[in-house]
This record gives sequence, structure tokens and C-alpha cells, in this order.
Amino acid sequence: MNNNQLPKIFVALDFGDEDTTKTFIKKLSPDLCGLKVGKELFTSSGPRLIKWIHEKGFSTFLDLKFHDIPTTVKKACHVAANLGISILNVHALGGSKMMDAAREGVNESDNNPFLVAVTILTSHDEDSLKEIGIQGNLQQTINKLAIDAARAKLDGIVCSAQDIPLVKDTLPDNFIFITPGIRLNDEKDDQKRIMTPKDAIKNGASFLVIGRPVTLSDDPVKTLIKINDEINL
Ligand code: C5P
Repeated sequence: MNNNQLPKIFVALDFGDEDTTKTFIKKLSPDLCGLKVGKELFTSSGPRLIKWIHEKGFSTFLDLKFHDIPTTVKKACHVAANLGISILNVHALGGSKMMDAAREGVNESDNNPFLVAVTILTSHDEDSLKEIGIQGNLQQTINKLAIDAARAKLDGIVCSAQDIPLVKDTLPDNFIFITPGIRLNDEKDDQKRIMTPKDAIKNGASFLVIGRPVTLSDDPVKTLIKINDEINL
């Protein structure tokens, strides 16, 4: 997969049912964005909805964050890649063997999506990491897991745009950074660390995942045109 073949923005389809999702997607155009399908929507509507989205011309990021024994993750990544998606992800906490297996599963598919790792979920802090037995500094843990992902030949990581300068020097030049937590103004919702689209791209983000600023907008197309104009300046 080549970065330039994909839109810079992936809109997070955080809807629970197919009808609401389709009504929303029908307002959009594939020139303006790709679409991110997560666990809730995939569990309710699955591959059938992905096929429908692809028929409408959109690229997809399948955000299922696989984390299981290596063989299971290899098979899941293989099947996911064959859905024709453009990006998929696994948890780096599954370990190097699991990420190697994920890489093999994608390489053996008929498709060539970006395979990226989630390092530490943004819902964690140092106390909650300690609770599950991970000692040490949050940033060092994120850096270590990003390096593990690069060693397993994954294509990139999902991270806050604010983290990119802290991790990128130890990672390959063509490593991609997919950044949620994008806000057009100071509204944080439940995100802790936010950045504007333009600043995220300046910081080195390859793709922006944007949910509520687009899905809750009175005019999602206008909002997407504005963001695209801003990041293409
Ligand atoms: O509405 P909002 O722009 O906050 O949506 C962000 C999307 O990115 C949601 O689908 C959320 O699950 C996802 N995400 C995130 N932080 C991560 C990984 C994914 O917010 N670290």
C-alpha cells in the first residue's frame, strides 16, 4: 500500500447499526475521506457492510485491534486483509511472535493493506498499567512497543499526534502514524490529548482518524472540505 493512494482522513463510524451508518455514509464522498469500522459496527454488520462501503468507492480502516495467540491472529489478519480493506491493526501487547504472525497472515493474503499496531490505549495511565502488571513510564512503554512493531515489520502505529516527535527518531523513515484525538477547536469530549488536523499533519501524522467532529457536525461534507483544505495548504 502506498500512502498517496489513500485519503488523509478516516472518519470513525462509531454507530451501532447499519441503517444509521448507511444514511450517514450516503452524505459523504470517497474524495473527502476513508471510513473506519470498529468493533461495535463490525460485530453488528460485519463483512456485508464492508462490501457495501467498498462498492460506494470508500477505503476502509478495519479497527478490530486483534490480540490473541499467534496462529489465531495470523488467520484473522489473513481473512481481514482479503476483505479488501486498506488498514488493519493488532495490539503490540500481543508480543513480537503475534505481530510476526499478523505480518505473515497479511503477506499471504491477496491484498496489501497497511498493518499497524496499537501500543498503549489512550484510556490507560501509569496507575492502570501498574494494575495489570506493566511497570514503568508510559512513554517508555509506548516507545518500546513501537520499536517491537517496527521489528516485526509492521507498517506503523496508532498514536496521539503529540507522541510522534517522541517516538519517530527510533523508527524507520517510512513508518506511518495514524492519529485519533483530532479536534477542530477546544472541545475535548473524552479525549485527553487533542490536536488540530493541521498541527497533527505538521507533527508527522500520516492519516487522521476523526469521529465526532465530523459525525456530529450539522454539515459533515462542509466540515470535511474545510479539514482537507486546511491540511492541503
Ligand atoms: O470521536 P473521536 O474523534 O474522539 O473518535 C476517535 C476514534 O478513534 C474512535 O473510534 C476511537 O475509538 C478511536 N481511537 C481513539 N484512540 C485510540 C485508538 C482509537 O480515540 N488510541
